[in-house]
Amino acid sequence: MSESPQDPQGKEGISNRKADHIALCADPTEKVAFKGQGTLFSDVRFVHDALPDLHTDEVDTSLELLGKKLKAPVFISAMTGGTEQAAEINKDLAKLANDLGIGFGLGSQRAMLKRPDMAWTFEVRDVAPSVLLLGNIGIVQAREMSTAQVREMAKKIGADALCVHLNPAMELVQPGGDRDFRGGIDTLKRLHHELGIPVVAKETGCGLSFSVAKRIRQIGIEHCDTSGAGGTSWVGVETLRAKGNDKVLGEEYWDWGIPTAASVVFTSKAGLKAIATGGLKTGLDVARAVALGAQAGGLAAAALRAHQQGGVDGARAFLEQVIMSVKTACLLTGSKNLKELQRGKHFVTGDLKDWIAHGDRAAT
Ligand SMILES: Cc1cc2nc3c(=O)[nH]c(=O)nc-3n(C[C@H](O)[C@H](O)[C@H](O)COP(=O)(O)O)c2cc1C
Repeated sequence: MSESPQDPQGKEGISNRKADHIALCADPTEKVAFKGQGTLFSDVRFVHDALPDLHTDEVDTSLELLGKKLKAPVFISAMTGGTEQAAEINKDLAKLANDLGIGFGLGSQRAMLKRPDMAWTFEVRDVAPSVLLLGNIGIVQAREMSTAQVREMAKKIGADALCVHLNPAMELVQPGGDRDFRGGIDTLKRLHHELGIPVVAKETGCGLSFSVAKRIRQIGIEHCDTSGAGGTSWVGVETLRAKGNDKVLGEEYWDWGIPTAASVVFTSKAGLKAIATGGLKTGLDVARAVALGAQAGGLAAAALRAHQQGGVDGARAFLEQVIMSVKTACLLTGSKNLKELQRGKHFVTGDLKDWIAHGDRAAT
C-alpha cells in the first residue's frame, strides 16, 4: 500500500498498483486467498433454537457505532481510490452502503496525497450523505504527516472516523515497500489525542493479537478492525506482483497471521470495539463474529467480487443476502437483537479453542 522509491511521483503506485490489486482480488478463482489457513469461524457453533418466541419483524439487527446508527452489523471494508475504476467502485459501494444502512471504508488515501488531482476518486459524500464513512491511511505514512495534514485529508472526504492501517507483513514482501515500522504506537496515540475524529486501528489480513490489542486500548483508542487471516492474503497479493527474493519470501509467508475469529476474541477481550474483517463471506460469518464479541463484520474482497461480476445490482443482491442471513442467525438462536446473540448462543471448538487457550500467552 506504499509507493516504490523508484517512483517518487507515485504514478506507478496510484495507477498500476491499484489496478493490479483490484484485478487480483476480484478474480473469481480467489487466487489471493490464504492457502492452508482459514478464519476459524467454522469453529463457532451456534446452538439451534427450535422454539424461538419471535416474529422475524421483531428481530432488530441495528447498532450504534462510531456515532452513527447502522441497520445491520455489516461493513464494506477499505479497498480503493486513486483511479477512475476505483472511483466507480467507491461511489457504487458507498451509495449501496448508504441505502442499506451499513458502513463503508475507503482505501488508502495516500493516493490523493501524492496526486491531489485524484482526490475526487475518494469523494463519495455526494451519493452517500449519511453513510458511516471511514477514511484510511497507513501507519508509516501517518507517522510522517502532521496531525493537521491527516485531519485535512480525512475532512476532505467527510470521514466519520479514520482507519490507520498496520501492514508490516505485506510491506516486507512488496517491492520497494516500507521497512521502518518504528514509532507506530506513538503515532496512533498522537492521532487519537489530536485528530478530532475517532481512530480505528486496522490490520490488513494478518490480524491483531491480544498483546497488540491491549497496547492499542491502553493508549485510549476504542475501535479496531481485526482484518485477520483466512480471507484475502495481502502477502499473497504482493507475492503475485513480486520478483526474485521478494517472491520467495512471500510464498513462505503467504499464510502468515492470526485467524480472524481468534483476533476477534483477543480484541474484544482487550476491550476494543472490533469490526471483524478478514475472510468473511456470508451473514453467518458476520453473526459468528458478533457472537464472539465483535460489533460488526466487514467484507472486502467478497463485496468487490460481487460488484465486479454483477455490477451494482449484483452487489446489492449479495449485501441484502448477507444482511438477511444475520437476521436469520438471530432468529434461529432465539436472539431478539445483537446483544442477545452475544449471550451464550454459541460454543467454540477445534483450533479456535486452542487459539483462545494459548494465543494470549504469546503476549509481550
Ligand atoms: C482490492 C483491495 C484493496 C485494499 N486496499 C486496502 C487499503 O487501501 N487499506 C486498507 O486498510 N485495507 C485495504 N484492503 C484490505 C481490506 O480492507 C481487508 O482488510 C482485507 O482484504 C481482508 O478482508 P477480505 O478477506 O474480506 O478481503 C484492501 C482489500 C482489497 C480487496
